[in-house]
Amino acid sequence: MKRLFGLVCALCALTAIQARQRQNFDADWRFMLADSAVMSSPDYRDGHWRRLNLPHDWAIEGDFLVSNPSGASGGALPGGIGWYRKKFEVRGLKDDKLYIEFDGVYMNSIVYVNGQKVGCRPYGYSSFEYDITPYVHEGDNVVAVRVDNSDQPNSRWYSGCGIYRHVWLTKTHPIHVKHWGVYVHDGKVEVDYENPTKQKVKVKNIWLDADGKPTSIKKPRKWSCEDPYIYKVRTQLIAGGKVVDEVETTTGFRDFRFDAKTGFWLNGKNMKLNGVCEHHDFGCLGAALHEDALHRKLVKLKAMGVNAIRSSHNPPAPELLNMCDTMGLIVMDESFDMWRRRKTQNDYARFFDEWHERDLTDLVLRDRNHPSILMWSIGNEVLEQWSSAEADTLSLEQANLILNAGHDASTLAKEGEMSVNTLLADHLSDIVRRYDTTRPITAGCNEPSPNNHLFRGKAIDVVGFNYHHEWIKDVPHNFPGRPFIMTESVSALQTNGFYRMPSDSIFKAPKEWWLPYTDPTYMCSAYDNMHASWSSTHEQTWDVVKHTPYVGGQFIWTGFDYIGEPTPYSYPARSSYFGIIDLAGQPKDVYYMYQSEWTSLPVLHLFPHWNWLDGQQIDMWCYYSQADEVELFINGKSQGIRRKADSHQYHVMWRVTFESGEVKAVARKEGKVVGEQVIKTAGQPDHIQLSVDYQGRDLTFVQAVVVDKDGNRCPWAENELFFEPSDAQVIATDNGCQTSMERFTSPQRKAFFGRCIAVVRGKGNITARAIGLKAASLSLQ
Ligand code: GAL
Repeated sequence: MKRLFGLVCALCALTAIQARQRQNFDADWRFMLADSAVMSSPDYRDGHWRRLNLPHDWAIEGDFLVSNPSGASGGALPGGIGWYRKKFEVRGLKDDKLYIEFDGVYMNSIVYVNGQKVGCRPYGYSSFEYDITPYVHEGDNVVAVRVDNSDQPNSRWYSGCGIYRHVWLTKTHPIHVKHWGVYVHDGKVEVDYENPTKQKVKVKNIWLDADGKPTSIKKPRKWSCEDPYIYKVRTQLIAGGKVVDEVETTTGFRDFRFDAKTGFWLNGKNMKLNGVCEHHDFGCLGAALHEDALHRKLVKLKAMGVNAIRSSHNPPAPELLNMCDTMGLIVMDESFDMWRRRKTQNDYARFFDEWHERDLTDLVLRDRNHPSILMWSIGNEVLEQWSSAEADTLSLEQANLILNAGHDASTLAKEGEMSVNTLLADHLSDIVRRYDTTRPITAGCNEPSPNNHLFRGKAIDVVGFNYHHEWIKDVPHNFPGRPFIMTESVSALQTNGFYRMPSDSIFKAPKEWWLPYTDPTYMCSAYDNMHASWSSTHEQTWDVVKHTPYVGGQFIWTGFDYIGEPTPYSYPARSSYFGIIDLAGQPKDVYYMYQSEWTSLPVLHLFPHWNWLDGQQIDMWCYYSQADEVELFINGKSQGIRRKADSHQYHVMWRVTFESGEVKAVARKEGKVVGEQVIKTAGQPDHIQLSVDYQGRDLTFVQAVVVDKDGNRCPWAENELFFEPSDAQVIATDNGCQTSMERFTSPQRKAFFGRCIAVVRGKGNITARAIGLKAASLSLQ
């Protein structure tokens, strides 16, 4: 079906504002995973192509294969070249302008309109817009997009493939606000607009409160994590007595600063950034943007006490920033994972010289009005932190070319004042500061010494370490007077539901970063006792951050597990172990440690499960808050009372001998019982329990648990569950297991430690069946 753009415009023409019409352009595309030059042609017959709505990620539909060139790091899922085509109708355009806008295409996209090339964009995370006015005509038009993710590997994590974010079509009056042309800061509004007609244009800005009512901003209500109050600015261009263009920009007011002695301050309040790093994928849904999946992520993180997100290591979807604005989550907006020196064979380094200025500029222009963003990051662990043969052989012409900002690299480098790498860092910061000076710049640095080339110039406002928590004590000495945060931390390794004892032994996997690590289980321990060689347990880093006033906060690697980078393993492991929440969205135990430290909720979380061999020695851990002590009972017999010794202790532990029955934790405050948790030994798997894990507008995340006849989760159950919807559609399933080779789009999934989830679109009923178990049904609202 064709989109009737003209019709839509005709209807809207009845309103006072005539010119700007922005419509979502996601519906009714055709897709083919193949490549031929003729596919750009308007006459090409695409009737046999698959019909779909964007956003779309073709890689998530594939099989995990060791031979997929993305490798286990990229999720062992396919790449390739794909084409998207869409017909649309244009009517009555006259002098108006038509723009197509892509929020993100991974990667190397080339856009054609009616067979003519409109533009290309290598970086898969940038948003971009094309003026397609010269390419369209009255009547039928065709847009075709070639997406090339065939040169692999090009990412250290799963990227996804395709037009994985929204697409928009915008019609404007010839006099109109430029793309990202409004900049609101310090209560002022700057407007950049086009006026090819040379008519007199008046710019009017109207402040609106959160309810959309005109308001004054003399004493604005502040934006904070607890009260994320947003304002909007309605910008109108008036020519010939008419409003010819109108755009609305979300903004907010907040005071913040990073202090070298006292850390981070927001609106006069000293607080820690309790942040997590997030990649852009949505587990079994892949990279394709789903507002529901994104919201579910943020809701779960916020409930854990997270107040900050780092968009690692690339520009995020605009929707993430919108949600962070309204949910009160602070954002570190990050540009690149590499500069000129590559990390994988075919990554963005090959485009950096030509594209970095454009990509970084666009990031800042697109995002600078969001109240949630409080920091820019110009890069993550870029190899330019260190000197290298490659950097040394960079010719001065090349250096000047890439710096391109009036620096004379030869004088500076010769005088030994600065290295080329420092100049490059400064150059990137200059680009950022050209468009926004209201936020500090940082970078994720895993070279913590002041010799790091990035720290030597003027690029970095807030010194950011990745890992190296042991170096934090030297920060005031190494970086006198400079504020400090942990841009990335922890990298603990956990499989949800798997426990390696003794729990008080710390397992490093691998022992050194360059050593291989093998373990036949392909699992990592969900006690907080396993981490990578460069990293720490959750408790270790949090203890330093919590007790060191000059640390502004941390961004833990990571909130959610993500596809790819299955450190410490390789294939068949294909997704990460780093998350505090597993890939299916189920919290791991350590989630409750943070909740006990970061929220005002009373927490009592006892683990692991209570299904072991008789006589086995088991370590029972408990996270708790708002209580003085916890007593453990096994079948009614006390195993002792535990109290956290001081503010450096985060869990209590009992080493006990298993006997079937029940284990119970009783929390007391001032002698009164304030909480109780019982875990029973589960009997044979008997039936399935279904519940709603998250209800979105479009998607429902259904949690399935295999239980015994009394409803206790069977922690060792691996039954294969078949999800059968009526009227609805199961679009993906997952169980959080890092080595599962089942397709994410499959409607069946094995239980992993007794659980899995199904993602369902639509209403109706969903039934889950399994051989030997009683089925369960749930009606979807
Ligand atoms: C960091 C890196 C992240 C991720 C992490 C795993 O060095 O910035 O992208 O790879 O290690 O521990």
